[in-house]
Amino acid sequence: MSSTGDIGLFLGQLLKKPHQVVALAPSSRALSAEMAATLDPEGGPVIELGAGTGRITQAIIDRGIAAERIHSIEMNPVFCERLRADFPGLNVYQMSAGDVGELPVDGAQAVVSGLPLLSMPFDLQNAILTGTFRQVGRSGTYIQFTYGPKPPVKAEIRAAMGLTWTTSRKIWGNLPPARVYRFACPGA
Ligand SMILES: C[S@@+](CC[C@H](N)C(=O)[O-])C[C@H]1O[C@@H](n2cnc3c(N)ncnc32)[C@H](O)[C@@H]1O
Repeated sequence: MSSTGDIGLFLGQLLKKPHQVVALAPSSRALSAEMAATLDPEGGPVIELGAGTGRITQAIIDRGIAAERIHSIEMNPVFCERLRADFPGLNVYQMSAGDVGELPVDGAQAVVSGLPLLSMPFDLQNAILTGTFRQVGRSGTYIQFTYGPKPPVKAEIRAAMGLTWTTSRKIWGNLPPARVYRFACPGA
């Protein structure tokens, strides 16, 4: 699908499920490219959370990782159907990101998240971060964008897991402007 052809679908689902979609528009090409920028095309598979209409999925593929090596979790069945149609070979799971730790994937290098993490309750965030580092271990990363000025993972979870992180420059070419955080868990 073209980078503008998915906007109608996205906005339709935003109106129906505002508490799940929680964004004014799909991620821009610039933000999606930044989300994928540190992935290693020769590295392990990639797990994606909250794939939506597939903007970040496309950026991961453009980074050199084949659709067959990407495992995309998305809870909205309409988005899942579109992902399966647009990305042949992509592994699409209609489930909650809170169960990411249960996904049957070996040696994932990163979890790339388009989830509205900031607005999620503590227990769900905790399940997502714990499950992520069960998948990627100490050498892997959790990649998450956020629109706000603070890290998108709650302070209690960061402290309890001993998370470290880096941040990207601000991506102005996104609505609204966003920043990408890359979390690691040295104690995983
Ligand atoms: C802000 S949209 C991002 C969509 C796309 N990744 C992008 O960047 O354009 C958030 C997506 O996360 C999905 N989502 C929200 N909560 C979820 C959960 N608990 N498990 C799986 N997907 C979820 C929504 O259905 C929506 O597709």
